[in-house]
Amino acid sequence: MKNFIENLPKAELHLHIEGTFEPALMFKIAKRNHIKIPYKSVKEIEDAYKFDCLQDFLDIYYQGASVLINEHDFYDLTYSYLEKCAIQNVRHTEIMFDPQTHTERGVAFETVINGISKACEDAKDKLGVSSLLIMSYLRHLSEKDAFKTLKQSLPFKDKITAVGLDSSEKGNPPSKFKNVFEASVKAGYIPLAHAGEEGNADYVWEALDLLKIKRIDHGNNALQDPQLIKEIIKRDIALTICPLSNTALQVVSDLKDHPLKKMMALGLKVTINSDDPAYFGGQVNQNYIEIQKALNLSKQDLYELAKNSFQYALLDDKTKQIYLDELETYYEKYN
Ligand code: ADE
Ligand code: ZN
Repeated sequence: MKNFIENLPKAELHLHIEGTFEPALMFKIAKRNHIKIPYKSVKEIEDAYKFDCLQDFLDIYYQGASVLINEHDFYDLTYSYLEKCAIQNVRHTEIMFDPQTHTERGVAFETVINGISKACEDAKDKLGVSSLLIMSYLRHLSEKDAFKTLKQSLPFKDKITAVGLDSSEKGNPPSKFKNVFEASVKAGYIPLAHAGEEGNADYVWEALDLLKIKRIDHGNNALQDPQLIKEIIKRDIALTICPLSNTALQVVSDLKDHPLKKMMALGLKVTINSDDPAYFGGQVNQNYIEIQKALNLSKQDLYELAKNSFQYALLDDKTKQIYLDELETYYEKYN
Protein backbone atom coordinates (compact mmCIF):
# COMPACT_ATOMS: atom_id res chain seq x y z
CA MET A 1 0.00 0.00 0.00
CA LYS A 2 2.81 2.41 0.92
CA ASN A 3 4.43 1.90 -2.45
CA PHE A 4 1.08 2.20 -4.22
CA ILE A 5 0.42 5.54 -2.47
CA GLU A 6 3.91 6.93 -3.03
CA ASN A 7 3.71 6.40 -6.77
CA LEU A 8 0.05 7.31 -7.15
CA PRO A 9 -0.34 10.44 -9.33
CA LYS A 10 -2.21 12.99 -7.25
CA ALA A 11 -2.99 16.67 -6.73
CA GLU A 12 -2.87 18.61 -3.48
CA LEU A 13 -5.74 21.08 -3.12
CA HIS A 14 -5.42 22.30 0.48
CA LEU A 15 -1.99 23.59 1.37
CA HIS A 16 -0.85 26.80 3.07
CA ILE A 17 2.59 27.79 1.87
CA GLU A 18 3.37 29.35 5.26
CA GLY A 19 2.52 25.96 6.76
CA THR A 20 5.29 24.23 4.81
CA PHE A 21 7.98 26.14 6.69
CA GLU A 22 10.28 23.40 7.99
CA PRO A 23 12.31 24.30 11.12
CA ALA A 24 15.68 23.93 9.34
CA LEU A 25 14.70 26.41 6.62
CA MET A 26 13.18 28.72 9.24
CA PHE A 27 16.52 28.86 11.06
CA LYS A 28 18.41 29.48 7.81
CA ILE A 29 16.15 32.35 6.71
CA ALA A 30 15.96 33.88 10.21
CA LYS A 31 19.76 33.92 10.31
CA ARG A 32 20.24 35.56 6.93
CA ASN A 33 17.61 38.20 7.79
CA HIS A 34 19.12 38.78 11.27
CA ILE A 35 15.84 37.96 12.99
CA LYS A 36 15.76 36.34 16.41
CA ILE A 37 13.33 33.46 16.86
CA PRO A 38 12.43 32.18 20.32
CA TYR A 39 13.96 28.71 19.73
CA LYS A 40 17.53 27.47 20.09
CA SER A 41 17.27 24.31 18.02
CA VAL A 42 15.15 22.40 15.54
CA LYS A 43 14.26 20.10 18.45
CA GLU A 44 12.94 23.05 20.49
CA ILE A 45 10.77 24.11 17.55
CA GLU A 46 9.41 20.61 17.12
CA ASP A 47 8.63 20.40 20.84
CA ALA A 48 6.63 23.64 20.57
CA TYR A 49 4.39 22.11 17.90
CA LYS A 50 1.82 20.65 20.28
CA PHE A 51 -1.63 22.14 19.91
CA ASP A 52 -4.95 21.97 21.75
CA CYS A 53 -6.92 23.81 19.08
CA LEU A 54 -6.68 25.87 15.90
CA GLN A 55 -5.80 29.11 17.74
CA ASP A 56 -2.85 27.49 19.55
CA PHE A 57 -1.44 26.49 16.19
CA LEU A 58 -2.14 29.81 14.47
CA ASP A 59 -0.18 31.76 17.12
CA ILE A 60 2.95 29.70 16.39
CA TYR A 61 2.34 29.64 12.64
CA TYR A 62 2.16 33.45 12.33
CA GLN A 63 5.28 33.79 14.46
CA GLY A 64 7.17 31.40 12.15
CA ALA A 65 6.10 33.32 9.05
CA SER A 66 7.49 36.55 10.48
CA VAL A 67 11.06 35.72 9.38
CA LEU A 68 10.01 35.90 5.70
CA ILE A 69 11.09 39.31 4.42
CA ASN A 70 12.58 39.22 0.93
CA GLU A 71 11.39 37.86 -2.40
CA HIS A 72 13.93 35.05 -2.30
CA ASP A 73 12.65 33.95 1.14
CA PHE A 74 9.22 33.37 -0.41
CA TYR A 75 10.89 31.76 -3.40
CA ASP A 76 12.94 29.35 -1.25
CA LEU A 77 9.93 28.44 0.90
CA THR A 78 7.79 27.68 -2.15
CA TYR A 79 10.44 25.88 -4.17
CA SER A 80 11.30 23.68 -1.20
CA TYR A 81 7.63 22.60 -0.97
CA LEU A 82 7.44 21.98 -4.73
CA GLU A 83 10.52 19.74 -4.56
CA LYS A 84 8.64 17.65 -2.00
CA CYS A 85 5.68 17.51 -4.39
CA ALA A 86 7.90 16.10 -7.14
CA ILE A 87 9.23 13.37 -4.84
CA GLN A 88 5.68 12.40 -3.79
CA ASN A 89 4.28 12.32 -7.31
CA VAL A 90 2.06 15.31 -6.60
CA ARG A 91 1.55 16.29 -10.23
CA HIS A 92 -0.42 19.46 -9.50
CA THR A 93 -0.88 21.65 -6.43
CA GLU A 94 -3.12 24.59 -5.47
CA ILE A 95 -1.19 26.73 -3.04
CA MET A 96 -2.82 29.07 -0.52
CA PHE A 97 -0.92 32.09 0.67
CA ASP A 98 -1.88 34.64 3.34
CA PRO A 99 -0.77 38.08 2.06
CA GLN A 100 -1.99 39.88 5.19
CA THR A 101 0.41 37.89 7.41
CA HIS A 102 3.19 39.66 5.53
CA THR A 103 1.77 43.02 4.46
CA GLU A 104 0.78 43.67 8.11
CA ARG A 105 4.52 43.51 8.92
CA GLY A 106 5.48 45.93 6.14
CA VAL A 107 6.39 43.35 3.47
CA ALA A 108 5.05 44.46 0.07
CA PHE A 109 2.35 42.37 -1.62
CA GLU A 110 4.58 42.37 -4.70
CA THR A 111 7.46 40.76 -2.78
CA VAL A 112 5.24 37.89 -1.62
CA ILE A 113 3.53 37.18 -4.93
CA ASN A 114 6.68 37.48 -7.03
CA GLY A 115 8.70 35.13 -4.82
CA ILE A 116 5.97 32.50 -4.73
CA SER A 117 5.00 32.70 -8.38
CA LYS A 118 8.60 32.57 -9.67
CA ALA A 119 9.15 29.36 -7.69
CA CYS A 120 5.97 27.94 -9.24
CA GLU A 121 7.14 28.78 -12.77
CA ASP A 122 10.57 27.23 -12.15
CA ALA A 123 9.02 24.10 -10.63
CA LYS A 124 6.82 23.65 -13.69
CA ASP A 125 9.92 23.75 -15.94
CA LYS A 126 12.40 21.88 -13.79
CA LEU A 127 10.27 19.48 -11.74
CA GLY A 128 7.20 19.01 -13.93
CA VAL A 129 4.85 20.02 -11.09
CA SER A 130 2.03 22.39 -12.07
CA SER A 131 0.51 24.81 -9.60
CA LEU A 132 -1.86 27.69 -9.15
CA LEU A 133 -2.37 30.20 -6.36
CA ILE A 134 -5.19 30.88 -3.90
CA MET A 135 -5.03 34.21 -2.09
CA SER A 136 -6.54 33.68 1.35
CA TYR A 137 -8.09 36.40 3.46
CA LEU A 138 -7.47 36.17 7.21
CA ARG A 139 -10.87 35.95 8.85
CA HIS A 140 -9.72 37.30 12.23
CA LEU A 141 -9.10 40.64 10.46
CA SER A 142 -11.82 42.97 9.19
CA GLU A 143 -13.58 42.85 5.85
CA LYS A 144 -12.15 46.30 5.21
CA ASP A 145 -8.66 44.85 5.52
CA ALA A 146 -9.58 42.07 3.09
CA PHE A 147 -10.77 44.72 0.62
CA LYS A 148 -7.38 46.41 0.91
CA THR A 149 -5.72 43.09 0.07
CA LEU A 150 -8.03 42.53 -2.88
CA LYS A 151 -7.05 45.94 -4.24
CA GLN A 152 -3.32 45.21 -3.75
CA SER A 153 -3.72 41.96 -5.66
CA LEU A 154 -5.30 43.42 -8.79
CA PRO A 155 -2.04 44.30 -10.62
CA PHE A 156 -1.05 40.62 -10.15
CA LYS A 157 -4.42 39.15 -11.08
CA ASP A 158 -2.94 36.97 -13.81
CA LYS A 159 -0.91 35.08 -11.18
CA ILE A 160 -3.87 34.32 -8.86
CA THR A 161 -6.73 31.91 -9.60
CA ALA A 162 -8.88 31.92 -6.48
CA VAL A 163 -9.55 33.53 -3.13
CA GLY A 164 -9.83 31.62 0.14
CA LEU A 165 -10.75 32.32 3.75
CA ASP A 166 -8.64 30.98 6.62
CA SER A 167 -7.42 31.62 10.19
CA SER A 168 -9.57 31.61 13.36
CA GLU A 169 -12.96 30.25 12.35
CA LYS A 170 -15.07 30.51 15.50
CA GLY A 171 -16.55 33.98 15.91
CA ASN A 172 -15.59 34.93 12.35
CA PRO A 173 -18.42 33.57 10.18
CA PRO A 174 -18.37 33.67 6.38
CA SER A 175 -21.10 36.37 6.46
CA LYS A 176 -18.44 38.82 7.69
CA PHE A 177 -16.82 38.57 4.23
CA LYS A 178 -19.85 38.55 1.95
CA ASN A 179 -19.06 41.84 0.22
CA VAL A 180 -15.38 41.21 -0.35
CA PHE A 181 -16.12 37.78 -1.81
CA GLU A 182 -18.65 39.34 -4.17
CA ALA A 183 -16.03 41.87 -5.27
CA SER A 184 -13.39 39.12 -5.59
CA VAL A 185 -15.64 37.12 -7.91
CA LYS A 186 -16.27 40.27 -9.97
CA ALA A 187 -12.49 40.65 -10.24
CA GLY A 188 -12.29 37.14 -11.70
CA TYR A 189 -11.25 35.04 -8.71
CA ILE A 190 -12.89 31.70 -7.88
CA PRO A 191 -14.34 31.74 -4.32
CA LEU A 192 -13.22 29.06 -1.80
CA ALA A 193 -13.23 29.02 2.01
CA HIS A 194 -12.35 27.06 5.12
CA ALA A 195 -15.65 26.10 6.73
CA GLY A 196 -16.74 23.53 9.28
CA GLU A 197 -13.27 22.85 10.69
CA GLU A 198 -14.11 24.19 14.17
CA GLY A 199 -17.21 26.11 13.12
CA ASN A 200 -20.57 24.39 12.93
CA ALA A 201 -22.68 23.39 9.93
CA ASP A 202 -24.27 26.86 9.79
CA TYR A 203 -20.86 28.29 8.82
CA VAL A 204 -20.74 25.83 5.91
CA TRP A 205 -24.23 26.93 4.83
CA GLU A 206 -23.10 30.56 4.93
CA ALA A 207 -19.97 29.78 2.92
CA LEU A 208 -22.13 28.09 0.27
CA ASP A 209 -25.00 30.56 0.15
CA LEU A 210 -23.32 33.89 0.90
CA LEU A 211 -19.77 33.41 -0.40
CA LYS A 212 -20.87 31.05 -3.24
CA ILE A 213 -17.80 28.88 -2.72
CA LYS A 214 -16.83 26.24 -5.28
CA ARG A 215 -14.90 24.01 -2.86
CA ILE A 216 -14.98 23.59 0.92
CA ASP A 217 -11.72 23.47 2.86
CA HIS A 218 -12.20 20.88 5.63
CA GLY A 219 -16.00 20.80 5.98
CA ASN A 220 -15.91 18.08 8.67
CA ASN A 221 -18.83 19.59 10.57
CA ALA A 222 -21.08 19.47 7.51
CA LEU A 223 -21.86 15.98 8.80
CA GLN A 224 -23.94 17.57 11.58
CA ASP A 225 -26.68 18.41 9.06
CA PRO A 226 -28.21 15.84 6.64
CA GLN A 227 -29.83 18.61 4.60
CA LEU A 228 -26.45 20.28 4.14
CA ILE A 229 -24.86 17.01 3.01
CA LYS A 230 -27.57 16.69 0.36
CA GLU A 231 -26.98 20.25 -0.77
CA ILE A 232 -23.19 19.80 -1.07
CA ILE A 233 -23.74 16.67 -3.18
CA LYS A 234 -26.36 18.43 -5.30
CA ARG A 235 -24.00 21.34 -6.00
CA ASP A 236 -21.16 18.89 -6.75
CA ILE A 237 -18.78 20.60 -4.35
CA ALA A 238 -15.71 18.82 -3.00
CA LEU A 239 -14.34 18.82 0.55
CA THR A 240 -10.57 19.10 0.98
CA ILE A 241 -9.91 16.85 3.96
CA CYS A 242 -6.69 17.04 6.00
CA PRO A 243 -6.41 13.97 8.28
CA LEU A 244 -3.18 14.75 10.16
CA SER A 245 -4.24 18.38 10.61
CA ASN A 246 -7.52 17.16 12.09
CA THR A 247 -5.78 15.05 14.73
CA ALA A 248 -3.06 17.67 15.44
CA LEU A 249 -5.71 20.35 16.06
CA GLN A 250 -8.03 17.92 17.86
CA VAL A 251 -10.84 18.32 15.36
CA VAL A 252 -10.81 14.50 15.41
CA SER A 253 -9.51 12.71 18.51
CA ASP A 254 -8.04 9.70 16.71
CA LEU A 255 -7.49 8.87 13.02
CA LYS A 256 -9.50 5.69 13.59
CA ASP A 257 -12.51 7.94 14.30
CA HIS A 258 -11.95 10.09 11.21
CA PRO A 259 -15.19 10.54 9.21
CA LEU A 260 -13.48 10.27 5.79
CA LYS A 261 -14.86 6.84 4.95
CA LYS A 262 -18.32 7.82 6.12
CA MET A 263 -18.16 10.91 3.91
CA MET A 264 -17.24 8.76 0.91
CA ALA A 265 -20.07 6.34 1.66
CA LEU A 266 -22.54 9.23 1.82
CA GLY A 267 -21.49 10.26 -1.69
CA LEU A 268 -19.48 13.34 -0.71
CA LYS A 269 -16.50 14.10 -2.95
CA VAL A 270 -13.43 14.30 -0.75
CA THR A 271 -9.69 14.73 -1.27
CA ILE A 272 -6.64 14.12 0.94
CA ASN A 273 -4.32 17.01 1.77
CA SER A 274 -1.63 18.08 4.22
CA ASP A 275 -2.85 21.63 5.19
CA ASP A 276 0.33 22.68 7.05
CA PRO A 277 2.75 19.76 6.66
CA ALA A 278 5.65 21.25 8.63
CA TYR A 279 3.40 21.60 11.68
CA PHE A 280 1.18 18.53 11.54
CA GLY A 281 3.67 15.72 11.10
CA GLY A 282 3.41 14.77 7.47
CA GLN A 283 3.34 15.66 3.82
CA VAL A 284 0.42 14.63 1.66
CA ASN A 285 1.68 11.06 1.12
CA GLN A 286 1.99 10.58 4.86
CA ASN A 287 -1.65 11.71 5.15
CA TYR A 288 -2.68 9.07 2.60
CA ILE A 289 -0.55 6.40 4.31
CA GLU A 290 -1.85 7.03 7.83
CA ILE A 291 -5.51 7.39 6.92
CA GLN A 292 -5.29 4.26 4.76
CA LYS A 293 -3.99 2.31 7.75
CA ALA A 294 -6.43 3.80 10.25
CA LEU A 295 -9.53 3.21 8.13
CA ASN A 296 -8.31 0.20 6.17
CA LEU A 297 -8.90 1.96 2.83
CA SER A 298 -8.69 -0.14 -0.30
CA LYS A 299 -6.73 0.63 -3.46
CA GLN A 300 -10.06 1.51 -5.05
CA ASP A 301 -10.69 4.07 -2.27
CA LEU A 302 -7.23 5.57 -2.77
CA TYR A 303 -7.78 5.74 -6.50
CA GLU A 304 -11.11 7.49 -5.85
CA LEU A 305 -9.42 10.05 -3.60
CA ALA A 306 -6.66 10.78 -6.13
CA LYS A 307 -9.24 10.98 -8.91
CA ASN A 308 -11.22 13.57 -6.93
CA SER A 309 -8.02 15.57 -6.44
CA PHE A 310 -7.75 16.08 -10.21
CA GLN A 311 -11.49 16.23 -10.89
CA TYR A 312 -12.06 19.04 -8.39
CA ALA A 313 -8.86 20.97 -9.16
CA LEU A 314 -9.33 24.46 -10.58
CA LEU A 315 -7.91 23.36 -13.92
CA ASP A 316 -9.43 23.46 -17.39
CA ASP A 317 -11.04 20.22 -18.57
CA LYS A 318 -8.31 19.37 -21.05
CA THR A 319 -5.51 19.58 -18.46
CA LYS A 320 -7.60 17.64 -15.94
CA GLN A 321 -8.10 14.89 -18.50
CA ILE A 322 -4.33 14.54 -19.07
CA TYR A 323 -3.82 13.96 -15.34
CA LEU A 324 -6.85 11.69 -15.06
CA ASP A 325 -5.57 9.55 -17.94
CA GLU A 326 -2.19 9.27 -16.22
CA LEU A 327 -3.92 8.17 -13.02
CA GLU A 328 -6.10 5.68 -14.89
CA THR A 329 -3.07 4.06 -16.55
CA TYR A 330 -1.36 3.79 -13.18
CA TYR A 331 -4.39 2.26 -11.50
CA GLU A 332 -4.99 -0.28 -14.24
CA LYS A 333 -1.38 -1.40 -13.97
CA TYR A 334 -1.06 -1.61 -10.19
CA ASN A 335 -4.45 -2.36 -8.65
N1 ADE B 1 -4.27 28.59 8.31
C1 ADE B 1 -3.38 27.62 8.14
N2 ADE B 1 -3.92 26.43 8.42
C2 ADE B 1 -5.20 26.65 8.78
C3 ADE B 1 -6.28 25.83 9.17
N3 ADE B 1 -6.16 24.50 9.27
N4 ADE B 1 -7.44 26.40 9.47
C4 ADE B 1 -7.58 27.72 9.39
N5 ADE B 1 -6.60 28.55 9.03
C5 ADE B 1 -5.42 28.02 8.72
ZN1 ZN C 1 -6.16 25.03 5.88
